Amino acid sequence: MSDSKTILVLNGPNLNLLGKREPQIYGTQTLSDIEGLCKKTAKPCGLTVDFRQTNSESELIDWIQQSKHAAIIINPAAYTHSSIAIRDSLVQHSCPIVEVHISNIFTRESFRNESVISGISTGVVCGFGANGYMLAIIAVQALLENG
Ligand code: DQA
Repeated sequence: MSDSKTILVLNGPNLNLLGKREPQIYGTQTLSDIEGLCKKTAKPCGLTVDFRQTNSESELIDWIQQSKHAAIIINPAAYTHSSIAIRDSLVQHSCPIVEVHISNIFTRESFRNESVISGISTGVVCGFGANGYMLAIIAVQALLENG
């Protein structure tokens, strides 16, 4: 899928477990619920969503390299804090890149306080639970429309 009206939404490791994974931190919505929320938010904006999850760093990098989407929204999960390789693949793109975290990584363990992705992201949404994905789509729509 690649066109000027499609947003690539990428989800990293362990996000397939949302709903049962530490619900006190990540809430009770499943990844499939979040996919539905993204699609519902994008539709009235005239946008479509290509929603993917993988536990593999190399698969994320392959998807980023192949992307011809209008924008990339990414929750790199634990790779946020370590993956220079994901950062290097994202930086090849000139489209809007929005980093999303369900939890507020700045109020958690110190090893989560640093993101190697934020420095090359257009913007970061973090700490609003699953609604962060919705906010990221609205931000992308505004960026695509108004720059
Ligand atoms: C996360 C935060 C990361 O620190 C963690 O490793 C995740 C999820 C979030 O969405 O809050 O897997 O990216």
